[in-house]
Amino acid sequence: MPFDPAGLLRAHAALRQRELIQRRGRVGDVIGLIIEATGLEAEIGELCWVGDPRRGARVPTEVVGFRSGRTLLMPLGELGGIGPGTPVEPTGSPFRVTVGPQLLGRVIDGLGNPLDGGGPIATGMWRSTTAPPPDAFTRPRIRDRVGLGVRALDTLVPCGRGQRLGIFAGSGVGKSSLLGMIARYTTAQVNVIGLVGERGREVREFIERDLGDALEHSVVVVATSDQPALVRIRAAFTATAIAEYFRDEGSDVMLMMDSVTRFAMAQREVGLAIGEPPATRGYTPSVFALLPRLLERAGTSPDGSITGLYTVLVDGDDMNEPIADAVRSILDGHVVLTRALAHAGHYPAIDVLQSVSRLITEIITPEIQRAGQHVRSAMAAYRDKEDLISIGAYQRGTDPLADVAIDNRLALNEFLRQAVDDPTAAQQADAMLLELDAAMGGSARAQQSTTEAPPAAETGEPGETAAAGTPGASPELSLVA
Ligand SMILES: Nc1ncnc2c1ncn2[C@@H]1O[C@H](COP(=O)(O)OP(=O)(O)OP(=O)(O)O)[C@@H](O)[C@H]1O
Ligand SMILES: [Mg+2]
Repeated sequence: MPFDPAGLLRAHAALRQRELIQRRGRVGDVIGLIIEATGLEAEIGELCWVGDPRRGARVPTEVVGFRSGRTLLMPLGELGGIGPGTPVEPTGSPFRVTVGPQLLGRVIDGLGNPLDGGGPIATGMWRSTTAPPPDAFTRPRIRDRVGLGVRALDTLVPCGRGQRLGIFAGSGVGKSSLLGMIARYTTAQVNVIGLVGERGREVREFIERDLGDALEHSVVVVATSDQPALVRIRAAFTATAIAEYFRDEGSDVMLMMDSVTRFAMAQREVGLAIGEPPATRGYTPSVFALLPRLLERAGTSPDGSITGLYTVLVDGDDMNEPIADAVRSILDGHVVLTRALAHAGHYPAIDVLQSVSRLITEIITPEIQRAGQHVRSAMAAYRDKEDLISIGAYQRGTDPLADVAIDNRLALNEFLRQAVDDPTAAQQADAMLLELDAAMGGSARAQQSTTEAPPAAETGEPGETAAAGTPGASPELSLVA
């Protein structure tokens, strides 16, 4: 073939115009977890490969910021074999994971790789892990309850299909057990479970002990605490993106994230590394900007729904800790688990009086709401007098509502306590609540007929009684511990 200089020039020009070649950069400095690259043209969130392909494995990294004309990258893997001048190649797109029904029953890492030894995952559709939340005006309103299988929740803190609830608890109070219980008994069709920043030991424990057979219709995304901060953040977004895929396919999805606090801590690590100023408790402003971008993606869409359950660790039961505060203000309700109840062996350790579902009026009938109110009032009255009751100084008749709670404590506890392998369908739980309310109303009416006292203003329950005597309720009454 004759030499064609014009053709060579054309080929050279075409090569120069190839976007990726122009945008390629090189590693300048590596400080801590941050790689500074020069000559790179990439956008925030873009995935870049760092390493020389001829020398071996390359490390996936993500653009996390810019400083004085340099691009700041953080690794999504181990930082090995990287030195000054190592090539950095942008991929032109943000991080994506493969999604599809083949994920059901699988356990994957934050980057979508299988962790369960079940072989490679067939490639399906690719989906960016970042996405905008469903449009506020096309989101159908939440009107139906999704059954969680847990009596105390379904009747007193019900969760709507597409609602987002926070589960606030200290460590070891029973979050994982409760999530496993819900995953097994919920009426949602698909579970997507993100375990973010968990200890490695707990992962198998959760999958085998808490989740059990429910794994068949679940996808578990795991990033343990030893993984790089970005991988822990990605895991939360990957789980959300997988849930979005199933929602787009028309399913009702239960998305569970354990825990949002560890997700926030990972973003704090990233923020501090790129030089953001620490604000409250060392959390950087980007943490508070990122939280709604994660939590707002659950919810209803015209096709399906994602019901979101997000756990929040509250150290020393400090409910006003900044992450707890921020998450509570974004979500549509919160469930509080307390150590006192767990210590009393009252499981699930749900403190009903501190827990709120903001959509309760939309999703359960007025009859159940009323019955729930009666039960709550009696529990509140009991808690108010609890110190007196426990030392035997409570005068029966001082507060008729507290008397009702004392008289019905066994039935109340039986209703609120539930073993993990004892599911109750939501309708059945409703019937049990009505029965409990009838029994409590009955005992209150009995008191009223003996005393003919005026009704208490707060609830319409019968009022004070003159009956004396101190029953000195047993201290093991844990419902309001
Ligand atoms: N419903 C339950 N019935 C009986 N025991 C329970 C129940 N829920 C939790 N427990 C007990 O509490 C322990 C801790 O529960 P779990 O692992 O669910 O807590 P956690 O809040 O997820 O803890 P961590 O903060 O370590 O993740 C369990 O090992 C079990 O002994
Ligand atoms: Mg746990």
